[in-house]
Amino acid sequence: YHVNIPQLPPDPLFGIKASLAKDTRENKVDLGIGAYRDDHGKPWILPSVKLAEDLLHHSADYNHEYLPISGLKKFTEEAAKVILGEESSAIKEDRVVSIQSLSGTGSLHLAGTFINKFYRKKDDASFRAVVYVSDPTWSNHMQIFSSCGLATTKYPYWNDATKQLKIDQYVQAIEQAPKGSVFLLHATAHNPTGMDPKPEEWKRILKAISDNGHLPLFDCAYQGFTTGSLAKDAWALRHAIDSGDYHFPGILVCQSFAKNCGMYGERVGAFHVVLPEHDDALNSAILSQLSKIVRSEISNPPGYGAKVVSLILTTPQLKKQWERDLITMSSRIMGMRKQLVVELQRLGTPGSWNHITEQKGMFSYTGLTPSQTEKLAHDYAIYMSKNGRASIAGLNPGNVKYVAKAIDDVIRS
Ligand code: LMR
Repeated sequence: YHVNIPQLPPDPLFGIKASLAKDTRENKVDLGIGAYRDDHGKPWILPSVKLAEDLLHHSADYNHEYLPISGLKKFTEEAAKVILGEESSAIKEDRVVSIQSLSGTGSLHLAGTFINKFYRKKDDASFRAVVYVSDPTWSNHMQIFSSCGLATTKYPYWNDATKQLKIDQYVQAIEQAPKGSVFLLHATAHNPTGMDPKPEEWKRILKAISDNGHLPLFDCAYQGFTTGSLAKDAWALRHAIDSGDYHFPGILVCQSFAKNCGMYGERVGAFHVVLPEHDDALNSAILSQLSKIVRSEISNPPGYGAKVVSLILTTPQLKKQWERDLITMSSRIMGMRKQLVVELQRLGTPGSWNHITEQKGMFSYTGLTPSQTEKLAHDYAIYMSKNGRASIAGLNPGNVKYVAKAIDDVIRS
């Protein structure tokens, strides 16, 4: 037989983590992977998570038994409320099917597998949906959907020259896509650009998706990071469901608690299917099929993180603490954006830098080129994605001046 297994390059994001780990320079700066760091550059265990862990460890039924295939019910129910809202019409009308997932990636994988198996047109047996993702998007999106057997393509999103959305071309792409396409939308804190549509732009996007019979898929990995408020950051999704202005075949929602609970390695997430109308039999059939996918791939989801998050969501004072934690994280990041811009302006660094404060969430799409980011890593031990995406959470009062000066140097060189 013939073995032909091509070597792949390192993952664009986890590859940065590996290079950084190998770098022995003391002053190295990690602006790579989207993981929150405190003012000293250290990982942060959220106070709400610590309190919940404490409660969990002391509870009488604390153990490591298997969860059900569909996950911890208390967790998936509460997770749906976090993203759709306590007063969600979809929850009240019992139109939401929820299942636990291996964080955001696992949720997207469930979505992709589900679409590939079941998303069909009545009158066209050959129909296979194409998944439209923003240009640019998170580097994992395309490979998740292609590993689920789905074709992907890009819709215009980011204008490099103006550092704004290409909203007209975006809407045009929706209008021109084959009816029934899947549109992947970043619910908040767009990764990598940090630039979300404004409410009026969201309305145009959602109307075009609705008018053209497409299926929206919201990827929500950063709820709480844009404004610090869970409700405000879920505005677009909640508007899509509750306004009554749109008609979708359904809405798919991929939800991660990796970032907003700082539970990165615990893989806490959920996948929700929001149906246009209540249908008990369909709810049950969808859950059974999603459960079969989960059972065949991971058997049942991990318990620890889901138990911690469900305690946060069901214990009022922990929930309040979590909301404060979200403000701590989002406001520290906003503060660092401002400081970076102040430093760049103080240095008179060529170019305009206001986009860094206009962008929201964990990332800034700085506009630095691949060769500039390489130089930053090589000469200054400052690591960020090749495409110029910097995880602003990696900045702190101890390194922001150094980073600004290094950016200034590479831009002038
Ligand atoms: C990122 O974009 O840096 C994060 O979502 C981490 C990851 O899994 O890629």
